[in-house]
Order: sequence, then C-alpha cells, then structure tokens
Amino acid sequence: MQRDPNLVRLSRDHHRGLVLAMRIARDLPRATEAEAATIYSDLRSFWQEGLLPHFRAECECLLARLVRHLVLQDELIVTTQGDHLYLESLMAALQDTEDPELRRQYMGEFGARLQQHIRWEEAILFQRTQAELTAAELAALGRDLAARIPESPPSPIWPTRPTAAAE
Ligand SMILES: [Fe+2]
Ligand SMILES: [Fe+2]
Repeated sequence: MQRDPNLVRLSRDHHRGLVLAMRIARDLPRATEAEAATIYSDLRSFWQEGLLPHFRAECECLLARLVRHLVLQDELIVTTQGDHLYLESLMAALQDTEDPELRRQYMGEFGARLQQHIRWEEAILFQRTQAELTAAELAALGRDLAARIPESPPSPIWPTRPTAAAE
C-alpha cells in the first residue's frame, strides 16, 4: 500500500531517525571518548527538536484518532506507546549517568531500538492507520500534523562527521 500523503511528515521524520540510528551503529563502536561525547550531544539535540515532538504528534494526532476504531489494549496502541516509553527511559538513563561506557551502551541500544520502532511503524502502524481511518479522519490527521511538524524539521546530520556532507 502506498503511503498516504497525510502521513508523509511522519515518514520524513522516520528517514531522519534512521539516518541517526545508522550513524550510531557505524560511528560509535570506533569513536574516541571525545567523538562519543559529540555523538551524545547531537543525539540529545535531535531528541529534543525532532524525536520528542514526533512521538507526541504520533500519540496526540494519530493514536488519538486510531483508537476510535480499536480497543485501548490493541497491539498497535500498546506497542507504539511502549516503544516510546522505552526510548524515553533510555534518554533518561543517558542523562542520569556520567559513566562513558554505560553511555555508549545506552546509545547503542537507543539506535537499535529506534530503528526497530521506525520499521515497525512504517510496516504495521501506518498501514493499519491508512486502512482503519476514514478519508475525512486521514485529512484531519494530516492538517493536525502539518500544524505541529515543520516542513523541514531539524536534521540529524552531524557536521563533525567527514561523510555528513555527502548525505
Ligand atoms: Fe513512534
Ligand atoms: Fe514514528
């Protein structure tokens, strides 16, 4: 099923999230301590400016409409909210530790879980949303998302990385 245009802003965010996850997987294992600190700082910025508003929009715009067609215990609701809470807990754990090794471990876990979450949303949550919502609900969802997510939101491109300019 083709992606409904009303969900495109969320899918664009997903692309940015996948870029971030891939960079963590690629760069973190061989990063020096200073480079790991830069990755952490960039992750925190992207979290505040991109991912946190994205999670909120998914819950307050998408799930809030999808739940009209489902029970609260439906896997779509439980998995989306559970994944968001797990990722939020990893960000809290990152903030609460000064231990560089623990921080690497949490960042690695965050990247892997973010990638898994995004792929699940694209394959399952968005497909089911397109199937369950009426055309009028999808249009309302699109307007709601447009009011919350900028056309060109902050990108996770890391200027300190030599390959960043190529992407
Ligand atoms: Fe999500
Ligand atoms: Fe998402």
